[in-house]
Amino acid sequence: MNGNMLIKNASQLVTCSGFAAKQGKTMSNLHVIEDGAVVIENGFITHVGPTSDILSKVDEKQLQKQSFDIIDATNKAALPGFVDSHTHLVFGGYRAEEFSWRLKGDTYMDIMKKGGGIVKTVAATQKASKAELIKIGLRRLDAMVAFGVTTIESKSGYGLDKDTEIKQLEVMAELNKQHPVDVVSTFLGAHAVPGDYKEKKDDYITFIIDQVLPTIAKNRLAEFCDVFCEKDVFSINQSRRLLLKAKDMGFKTKIHADEITPLGGAELAAEVGAVSADHLLSASDQGIQEMAKKGVVATLLPGTAFSLNEPYARARYMIDQNCAVALATDFNPGSCFTYSIPLIAVLAALRMKMTPEEVISALTINAAAALDRADQIGSIDAGKIGDLVILEYPSYEFILYHMGVNTVETVIKKGTIIKK
Ligand code: NIG
Ligand code: FE
Repeated sequence: MNGNMLIKNASQLVTCSGFAAKQGKTMSNLHVIEDGAVVIENGFITHVGPTSDILSKVDEKQLQKQSFDIIDATNKAALPGFVDSHTHLVFGGYRAEEFSWRLKGDTYMDIMKKGGGIVKTVAATQKASKAELIKIGLRRLDAMVAFGVTTIESKSGYGLDKDTEIKQLEVMAELNKQHPVDVVSTFLGAHAVPGDYKEKKDDYITFIIDQVLPTIAKNRLAEFCDVFCEKDVFSINQSRRLLLKAKDMGFKTKIHADEITPLGGAELAAEVGAVSADHLLSASDQGIQEMAKKGVVATLLPGTAFSLNEPYARARYMIDQNCAVALATDFNPGSCFTYSIPLIAVLAALRMKMTPEEVISALTINAAAALDRADQIGSIDAGKIGDLVILEYPSYEFILYHMGVNTVETVIKKGTIIKK
């Protein structure tokens, strides 16, 4: 348990090699090494290659003496740890009844209009203590690790008042500290319009800019600022104003863009230089092309389309237009109550027509890029953090083929096994 490890004889070492987002066609090359080996020292990858090459460079007996963990991955595929780059991990309460209402015909927006939806979770999150949120957050992270996730992003946005937004972000900081998984924090104060601002959305944006963002920046509570840019939520102009101010204050930006209506969120993401635009079920051709040109990562969340029974984002068109596509769960209590990576993977392949190779790139290197970390995680390259998964099966294809079933056997974070 010291961050030192040798993995050898992996039937496939799926390196996903690269230090930046993979756009378009380049998503298809996973840079697989047959019978591969990896050496991790002090949590960082130092050697990657065919087992015979690596064992001619490092002395296995010597490593053993230095108490390296030695893993024989014969007949098993090894991949970079998965990155879940869009979740709403920290929230109080549940909304199981809304799922049933939707099955009986209500839409997500119908439920929101009749007082359900995000504001319901806001009330429960305002009530929850920090200790409760930490306890349940740790449980959720354990469950995510079981699916091979080694880094996640998590958003606030179930506070909608300064104290609760900060409480959520402090809980995330604590989870990051207490749990081996890395938790990247995003401030999503503009996730819904709180009751007292119903007719004054511009004032709510001003409140966030003047009263909330400066404290979050000062206390380094979030790396990204995000906004739910949607008809009946926040407009393009309101989203632009918030994101530009956030950038001025040093935040990187993301957008919940074109999830339900084609509002121009993808275009806005390209215009403000967002790191990612997420959802994109209704993104326009032009928006997609502009994202490709500017290198904005298109983070697609097929679990949400599945759960809301909506048409899926146009992954095939996006990749053909040279976008970098990432996949994430969107785990949240309303529109997508799942953190199952195998479910997301198989939906992306069967419903969005992504190839197995594109799916793997989207869950690893491109998801890392969606968090502006493609230089540190998301691939098995010397110099990167030693985050890996080993499957129970000999090839990455099993992740899709074993539909919805977890194929991850061992999870390694910074060169240490965190799930076996
Ligand atoms: O990403 N679109 C807005 N936010 C979430 C849903 C949150 C909720 O329903 O609680 C999403 O889908
Ligand atoms: Fe979301």
